[in-house]
Amino acid sequence: MTDAAKLSLTGKELEYPVMSGTIGPDVIDIRKLYAQTDAFTYDPGFTSTASCQSKLTYIDGDQGILLHRGYPIGELAEQSSFMEVAYLLLNGELPDADQLGTFDRTITRHTMVHEQLATFFRGFRRDAHPMAILCGVVGALSAFYHDSTDIHDPAQRVIASHRLIAKMPTIAAMAYKYSVGQPFLYPDNSLSYTGNFLRMTFGVPAEPYEVNPVIERAMDRIFILHADHEQNASTSTVRLAGSSGANPFACIAAGIACLWGPAHGGANEAALNMLREIGTPDRIPEYIARAKDKNDPFRLMGFGHRVYKNYDPRATVMQKTVREVFAELKVTDPLFDVALQLEEIALNDPYFVEKKLFPNVDFYSGVILSAIGFPTSMFTVLFALARTVGWVAQWNEMITDPDQKIGRPRQLYNGPTQRSYVPLTER
Ligand code: CMC
Repeated sequence: MTDAAKLSLTGKELEYPVMSGTIGPDVIDIRKLYAQTDAFTYDPGFTSTASCQSKLTYIDGDQGILLHRGYPIGELAEQSSFMEVAYLLLNGELPDADQLGTFDRTITRHTMVHEQLATFFRGFRRDAHPMAILCGVVGALSAFYHDSTDIHDPAQRVIASHRLIAKMPTIAAMAYKYSVGQPFLYPDNSLSYTGNFLRMTFGVPAEPYEVNPVIERAMDRIFILHADHEQNASTSTVRLAGSSGANPFACIAAGIACLWGPAHGGANEAALNMLREIGTPDRIPEYIARAKDKNDPFRLMGFGHRVYKNYDPRATVMQKTVREVFAELKVTDPLFDVALQLEEIALNDPYFVEKKLFPNVDFYSGVILSAIGFPTSMFTVLFALARTVGWVAQWNEMITDPDQKIGRPRQLYNGPTQRSYVPLTER
């Protein structure tokens, strides 16, 4: 590509620099556009806008490639652990054994939450959605950990990052326990990050809980698959909230709120609910027809992606993990067969082929998570738990970016022009 983009507007000929990253599309630097032309760009949904520079995650949606700090997601999911990926995202390089040990111990030391937080939980209704609880409790952390809210102090930023990653499994498990009316379990720091989470969720104080290593590995891999995903809606929300200087706990709570939506992290819950509604393979054609019908708002949940126009590489790992979990637990789920057949039919249907709609990470995750024992309402909570690593890494990157400014998009105003106030008696 050239090193300048030319724009002709209201008789002016303007040039804008073209910036190249290490891989991926070039970007046109339009920062001076408004000052020079008095015009904005219009890009709802940011489909053509790069909001920042980042070294964390690269996605090639056409090829179905996802890299964290250069490493393919498939290799990380197969060979590394969630703690390693967290270290990688935060620090830029894979840790050596000593670095990993130290990082693991640091995270482990922060797994407990302030005892008063348990009281905070009790203010929620028992039937509250765990995402509502998660959002509220994570936001409330800023009321408990004042010593890590100064974003200008690098040491406080590190402590806040570690606290968020470490406490998220504890809070997520507490949200679950609260909803089923069981007592909270304190963390057991002799266990792995993921093993500890499984015990806090499924264990009870009355009995010892043994972590199943196959399930622990599967869960850890699911966490890896969700750890980061470039400038998606919730990550952009975290960055936007953080751009005002808001404290990290408030920013992550904002990210959780955004993630909950069914077009984003809520799709895993919606995908399993959809498979349940379809129920049996003979009903698939009816749902495919509905998904294609412009007058029906129904969409195939777990299908399609803003960036991937090819198979989501995370869905490939997820499908393999379903088989491993089923083999270990000696279970099958007829919904898995419905999912497999639905995928096959959709991938051969011209509507889905032309629009490049493929299964995404959420298509198979619900089947595994429900086999492990999670209720659907917990699915997005698990996504949030894992994505906290990415949010925190992206937030840190933003704070230290010399180009960072408060995020403040503009608009194309279509409302009434100026008019005079009409008193109530005259209306
Ligand atoms: N089922 C049927 N049609 C679809 C689907 C679907 N799942 N997804 C997109 N389309 C159609 C859509 O109707 C549109 O058709 P047309 O061009 O004729 O108007 C076309 O494909 C493009 O869709 P879009 O909504 O303009 O694309 P987008 O990039 O704005 O949306 C998406 C991406 C993920 C929101 C969308 O594909 C969707 O709603 N999928 C279902 C929800 C889902 O699985 N979300 C999880 C995303 S992965 C996890 C995460 O990152 O959070």
